[in-house]
Amino acid sequence: MSQARAVRFDRYGGREVLYTAEIPIPEPAAGEVLVAVRAAGINPGEAGIRSGAVHERFPGTFPSGQGSDLAGVVAAIGDGVTDLAVGDEVLGYSWRRSSQATHVVVPATQLIPKPAGLSWEVAGSLYVVGVTAYAAVRAVDPKEGETVAVSAAAGGVGSLVVQLLGLRGVRVLGIASPANDDWLTAHGAIPVHYGDGLAERLAAAGPIDAFIDLFGPEYLRLAVELGIPRDRIETIISFADAAELGTKAEGSVDASTPEVMSEMAGLVAGGQLEFPIAATFPLERVADAFAVLEQRHTHGKIVLLP
Ligand SMILES: NC(=O)c1ccc[n+]([C@@H]2O[C@H](COP(=O)([O-])OP(=O)(O)OC[C@H]3O[C@@H](n4cnc5c(N)ncnc54)[C@H](OP(=O)(O)O)[C@@H]3O)[C@@H](O)[C@H]2O)c1
Repeated sequence: MSQARAVRFDRYGGREVLYTAEIPIPEPAAGEVLVAVRAAGINPGEAGIRSGAVHERFPGTFPSGQGSDLAGVVAAIGDGVTDLAVGDEVLGYSWRRSSQATHVVVPATQLIPKPAGLSWEVAGSLYVVGVTAYAAVRAVDPKEGETVAVSAAAGGVGSLVVQLLGLRGVRVLGIASPANDDWLTAHGAIPVHYGDGLAERLAAAGPIDAFIDLFGPEYLRLAVELGIPRDRIETIISFADAAELGTKAEGSVDASTPEVMSEMAGLVAGGQLEFPIAATFPLERVADAFAVLEQRHTHGKIVLLP
């Protein structure tokens, strides 16, 4: 194959601006690796970049590719890469908005070996949610026996946060819709439904030591109203409100290291963390994949298979 296929968009807009283009297979420069991508997860932040909604913080450059998460097989290595070889199975990330493609070039430092026990779907969608969940839990540093409330507790990030808290012996109040009651209960969390009366339901569930917001600013304000100390309130999304209120706001950039990726991959491969896959789509159906994701009711990850 001399050509690669890659997700592209040429202007801000709705899902209709997404398409797949034939492009030359990129060549790795020194320190880089060409990966033949087997799976690439999609993430809600990408819809914000594509629509222009987060232009101030993450401006688009056109034509734009898309995607951070990836897993695949090393197809070529650049000068100076010594710890990876052609044929190795890897997982990792691109910070060039480029992983949703048949081929991608990334620095070797952004890849780790794929544990044999991980499926391509899981390996290819582990990076963003894995390191973000790790960062969010670390930000509130919960101790055994404490109670932590989590909004969007059964989503891509939330399903890992709930389980990481469980591994620490934390009592988890998982804020979600009734559709996720069974999954949350089966994973040791107490389901608490969002909507009218949430503050009262949380207050009735007992003293809350920390709050991890994975959904939006209304939850940061609720956590402050509940009297939770601000240094034990964390959000991965409401950055402006966090700055105003003096809460924490740590995310993927704070934990994007090979060590954290390896730890999370090891926990999933070892069965200590379940990693739900909600759906897979071929690369060409990227717009359909985002149509599902943008409903904001996904349980687990949606993954593109190039
Ligand atoms: N800072 C970072 O590094 C970083 C990294 C990753 C993600 N993020 C951001 O974090 C957010 C979560 O990402 P994700 O991948 O976990 O998203 P996701 O998988 O799309 O989250 C979907 C979840 O949101 C829940 N939800 C829907 N409406 C809700 C409501 N009103 N209150 C509480 N929960 C509600 C859904 O639960 P039900 O189905 O039960 O309704 C569903 O489980 C996104 O905004 C994303 O952009 C930031």
